[in-house]
Amino acid sequence: MTSQPRAQRRRLVVGNWKMNGTRDANSRLLQEILSNWKPLEKSDAAICPPFVYLEQVAQALSASQLYWGGQSVNPNDSGAYTGEISAKMLIDQGCRYVIVGHNERRRLQSESDDYVARQFVAAQAEGLIPILCVGESSEQREQGKALETIGRQLQAVLDIAGLQAFATAIVAYEPIWAVGTGITATPEEAAQVHAFIRKQFASLGHELVILYGGSVKPENAAELFAKEDIDGALLGGASLQAKDFIAICQSAEVAGK
Ligand code: 13P
Repeated sequence: MTSQPRAQRRRLVVGNWKMNGTRDANSRLLQEILSNWKPLEKSDAAICPPFVYLEQVAQALSASQLYWGGQSVNPNDSGAYTGEISAKMLIDQGCRYVIVGHNERRRLQSESDDYVARQFVAAQAEGLIPILCVGESSEQREQGKALETIGRQLQAVLDIAGLQAFATAIVAYEPIWAVGTGITATPEEAAQVHAFIRKQFASLGHELVILYGGSVKPENAAELFAKEDIDGALLGGASLQAKDFIAICQSAEVAGK
């Protein structure tokens, strides 16, 4: 079986606020998003704030079309893991999604492929939709090892979660060299990797949603979303500006028609 035609896949735009915000700033940003929101039909949108603001975001968004999620999760159920948050706790806060394997955590918190795979499994076991981030560094790209790196990152999850687990998961391609740098992968570069990722899951025959992340802005979103295998975006900087976030959600919506 091959994957579904693109028109049948829902788009998704996720704002990863990273370690930004204060109660006041969040309140203003959420208010601006909600008061200018244009309803989506073919797409979904979500915000992943720092853990301490999940409750604030949940309250603000509960009557809206937007979802929310965590930026990471500990793979264990509970216990002596100081500073960590479990999948159950995220569910308790009404989260729909959780980001796992973001390159900032792989690099700065030394999260291994195997650890990320355990996070993925723990998230799904509680009913969260994991957004699995994969992506290569600039050195790996220069050495022609981009696809090999991404293949390895995916395989680690496939090994313990199995192919079927991806029927209810999202994959986000975030080339490390494009994150927070202002350098976006060209639509062609991104599309090549997305097609590679989709091929790994072709036998599932489902509608795996594959996001692109890395310096997505209102100016380049439409061009990226025009590519067959790019189903939406994982935003950093642009998700902190209401106007940009909404504009990118609208680009996804238009591309879905
Ligand atoms: P930027 O959009 O700021 O490049 O960040 C992308 C990202 O890391 C989202 O998770």
